[in-house]
This record gives sequence, structure tokens and C-alpha cells, in this order.
Amino acid sequence: MRRLAAGNWKMHGTGADLAEVDTLVAAHPDPGCELLICPPATLIHRMAERARGTALVVGAQDCHPAHSGAHTGEVSASMLKEAGARYVIVGHSERRADHGESDAIVRDKAAAAAREGLAPIVCVGETLAQREAGKTLDVVAGQLDGSIPDAAPGLVVAYEPVWAIGSGLTPTTAQIAEVHAAIRDWLGGRDAGAADAVRILYGGSVKPGNAAEIFAVENVDGALVGGASLKAADFGAIVSALAAA
Ligand code: PGA
Repeated sequence: MRRLAAGNWKMHGTGADLAEVDTLVAAHPDPGCELLICPPATLIHRMAERARGTALVVGAQDCHPAHSGAHTGEVSASMLKEAGARYVIVGHSERRADHGESDAIVRDKAAAAAREGLAPIVCVGETLAQREAGKTLDVVAGQLDGSIPDAAPGLVVAYEPVWAIGSGLTPTTAQIAEVHAAIRDWLGGRDAGAADAVRILYGGSVKPGNAAEIFAVENVDGALVGGASLKAADFGAIVSALAAA
């Protein structure tokens, strides 16, 4: 399987920041893994044009479950695809928390993405309180049960402990290994033949300084990177670590 380095720019970035992308692709003409950035929706088209002929693939951070309709302010998967996106993140914990997205909504979004030919990156992960209560594996299994549609070609799963996102904290490699193995088992229960082809990303405070250690963990097939994806030098170092893992 081709491992995946995915950057999530969140609500950061304007046209001026596309220069970072030029720097990144120039430094990694043949990155040795799949290279993805999910910028804000306003930049998808321009970034995709800029990435044409390079190793960079562009994605989105969210989509609406419907193909079109009276949904003011929303963007559908088909619109994102037309703009140049090839992936879409769904169920990020910031959307689950800030927008009250349930597992059922996340599943509908992932299904919509897959229907339109976009690969859904479905995010799961426990809060600190859930981890401290010993519920991590139950929480993650529940999110997988509720958020992953029956048919999701191109599916990617991202394990992102909520308490590790943007905090500088990361689980131990043993904790990452435990959850990634559980996700692989869950995928095997769903479709034994396809489980090994689904990439399982780790996300939450991945930095140049910890990337190699995280990528050495079994069943870690790449990373979903927030803050460190904004600067070409930092994201480039993470890409290099993944290629070397
Ligand atoms: P972070 O964010 O790398 O800034 O912790 C990760 C994410 O939210 O996807």
C-alpha cells in the first residue's frame, strides 16, 4: 500500500500561502508516499491548478451529504471534486465538537464523498476523559460502527485522539499501536479481503521531531497533520520521515 502524508490546513491559508506548496513540491518531486494537502475550500481550485504535474494531491476538509439543494453555506462532494479535490476529511473532532456532527452524519458525508469518487478520510478518536476512564477502544469501535458506510471505495481512517490535537501531546507508541491494531481488526471484521488495503493514519501533534517514531509503529500507514502542515519545511520533514519508514 502507498502510505499517505495528509496535511489539514484547517481555517488557515490565503493565496499568499500557496508559495509554501511550490516550495514543498519542488523539494519532493518524488516523495516516496502519497502527498495530500486539504486547504480551506476557497483554495482548493487554485492549489489543484498549481499542483498539476507534481506529486501533490489536493483534498477538502468537509462536505455536505447531499448532492445539491437548499443548504445555504454548504459545499457538496461533487462541487469539491469539480474544484480539484480527490479526498475529503469527514468527522474531524473539531466538526464533531463545534458543529454537533453525529456518527450518522459523518457516515452520510463519507458515503456522499465515495459516491462522487472522492476518497473519504474518516476521523475517530477519544477525549482525554474517555481515555482516562479506560474507554478508548470502545469509543473508537463505536465511532467506526457509526461513521463508516457499507460502501466506501478509497476509504482512509484517521485515528486522532482529541486531546493530542494541537496540544503538543501525543500518545505513547504502545497506545498508538493498540488503537491502530483495533482499527485494523475492525476493518477485517467488515471486509476481511480489503482490510489491509485501507490506510490508517495517525493524527495529533505530529511534528518533524516525533514523526519517525510514530511511523515505525505497526499499522500506522501515514499521518494527518494539522499545524505542522502549514510550513513546507516542517511538512516536508514529515514526508521524508514517512518515505524512510
Ligand atoms: P495537529 O492537528 O497536527 O495540529 O495536532 C491534527 C488534526 O487536527 O488533524
